[in-house]
Amino acid sequence: MNIKRVLLFLISIMALHPLRADEGMWVSSYIQQKIEDMRGKGFRLSAEDLYSINSSSLKDAIVHFNGGCTGEMISDEGLLITNHHCGYDQIQYHSSVEHDYLKDGFWAMKRDEELPNPDLYVAFLEYMEDVTKKVLAGYSESMSEEQREKLVADNSRRIVSRIERKGKGIKARVAPLYYGNQYFVYVYKVFTDVRLVGAPPSSIGKFGGDTDNWMWPRHTGDFSLFRVYADRNNEPAPYSPDNVPYRPKRFFKINASGISEGDFTLVYGYPGRTSEYVTSQAVDYIANVSNPKKIKLRTIRLGIMDSQMERSDAVRIQYSSKHADVANSWKKWQGEMKGILKMNTVENKRNYEKAFAVWAKGKPEYDGIIGKFADLYSQAEALSLVRDYQYEALNAPEFLFFAAGDGSDSALFYKNYYKPIDKATFIALMNEYDKDIDDSYKSPYFKEKVAKAGSVEKLADEIYDNDSLSLAREFYMATNTFYNSTVKPRLDSLNREINMLYRKYMRGQMDFARENGTGKVFYPDANSTLRIAYGRIEGYAPADAVRYKPFSTLEGIMEKDNPAIFDYNVPQKLREIYASKDFGRWEENGTVPVCFIATNHTTGGNSGSPVLDADGNLIGVNFDRVWEGTMSDIVFDPDLCRNIALDIRYALFVIDKVADAGYLLNEMVILE
Ligand code: ARG
Ligand code: GLU
Repeated sequence: MNIKRVLLFLISIMALHPLRADEGMWVSSYIQQKIEDMRGKGFRLSAEDLYSINSSSLKDAIVHFNGGCTGEMISDEGLLITNHHCGYDQIQYHSSVEHDYLKDGFWAMKRDEELPNPDLYVAFLEYMEDVTKKVLAGYSESMSEEQREKLVADNSRRIVSRIERKGKGIKARVAPLYYGNQYFVYVYKVFTDVRLVGAPPSSIGKFGGDTDNWMWPRHTGDFSLFRVYADRNNEPAPYSPDNVPYRPKRFFKINASGISEGDFTLVYGYPGRTSEYVTSQAVDYIANVSNPKKIKLRTIRLGIMDSQMERSDAVRIQYSSKHADVANSWKKWQGEMKGILKMNTVENKRNYEKAFAVWAKGKPEYDGIIGKFADLYSQAEALSLVRDYQYEALNAPEFLFFAAGDGSDSALFYKNYYKPIDKATFIALMNEYDKDIDDSYKSPYFKEKVAKAGSVEKLADEIYDNDSLSLAREFYMATNTFYNSTVKPRLDSLNREINMLYRKYMRGQMDFARENGTGKVFYPDANSTLRIAYGRIEGYAPADAVRYKPFSTLEGIMEKDNPAIFDYNVPQKLREIYASKDFGRWEENGTVPVCFIATNHTTGGNSGSPVLDADGNLIGVNFDRVWEGTMSDIVFDPDLCRNIALDIRYALFVIDKVADAGYLLNEMVILE
């Protein structure tokens, strides 16, 4: 193809896939650049209303919840809502045989019944600031990527410590945007006295379990309530009975007046990680090598767990949380793979790269980048596979990892440990490792041990039948030492070069788009910092002849009700309310709304994020994505990518009618 034809072709691709406004996780302090588009789509507030450093703004109502989820303030007395699955560990922590809060739910009926949690923290963002110049002070083009990394780390440490000196509970973090073309410092106020206020039973909060996970239609009441406490001056303080409810700068009013398809929605939270700008090889590796292998390994593990969990209730309880963890990514990877194939992403990226390469000819900064990527990725691929097997196979049997530790968590470990599962897992996974990993990358210790024992099975007997902590420890240490000293350094150094190339490629993609007048605006990949995604409530068509509506209701819960199936066993109280139709003020069209889907671009970490209406009022709590759209971490399809939110009215209904904790509604501002 000559240049002209390539460019024409490229423009035709761009016309087919322009960046629809629903795609994107926007930096909240730069939201001004999107506000016109947002207002055109129905948003009624200003950029300052969303993010301001001069006065209180909606961002002040949002927290990073325990580092992995999002949560938000819903009263001026520190009341916080997040997902049930985000508060799961805290709910489990307070549970015992006598008080099984996971099973039965928990509701503090007054303040002094709220339960403190030793390991829980929430972080309010004070401000974010571009510190690129400071972070790169002293940088010169001649530096290696490793030297650059060290410089960035040193400068960042200085920036952080200068800020953290300033106040109680102040924590700062420097994070790269656009592969280090830009750096931001994020300054938080961190509260550690955060108490459990309420959680529905798992038969509501986890209704549908792993069966419905990543799927629409969904009927999960995935929420829990906490309260943030502060000292008498409203500042962060460690737990004390003298602490008082925190008075946030801002909290969300709740819009309970009803929502419709097409309504504007905004998700404001902490998305974890995306890879929207990677090359065709990277996507090819994910969709055609890494995901299939990791899925295979986890299918084996889940099969082993399933067969034992079916046989014994005790084992089912022991392994339910572990099973959920393993199944969560396992299911997501399958959806992601399918989505990438369906979108033809590898092919599309290849074509784009061809056009980019032609455009880059003669531009010293960008010329040859695509070829270099190909070279680096082809070297990195085999090593990446070894890394995947290190985590998903060698390190997966729990006994090994436990044996390598100091044993301090022994009681905790054995409480949820069932040897036949772990031994069978060891045998199956080590055989996979042996079969799939090239001899030159295989741990010499592993080879030697298996040869000496006679087989993986015999080695498993030696470790497990004797409960040999020392042999398990030796195995874990030796295989990890080999990986860390032989494979990882080579992979790290390749990844460093790849990252450096991405820094250029990112700039190149922007220049390329600008010169071709595509008008594409590039949002930075998610990096666990506060972002805004906006869209609208909308159904979707996952397959020929199928169209999903965007709302689910209590009717669907009752349709799924089946006491014989653990995931679908509706609590008796809810059955009774349903039979009597006693829905109170939460009734709509003779039923109660439960969940809805929208076109917001979200990812892991957005769990618990507020879903806001055009006026910035709370209409839902984000908790998942639809299966057909899980490729959105890599490529966003406006037709298929949907986030799943709990309708806030279902949470209020559960608090009011199921939990009889209606007093909690008094501190909220509910617009009807
Ligand atoms: N898929 C959601 C997320 O990625 C929810 C996971 C928790 N729920 C479950 N059934 N495992 O975190
Ligand atoms: N459940 C996910 C979380 O815990 C959110 C779902 C997603 O990945 O979009 O963050």
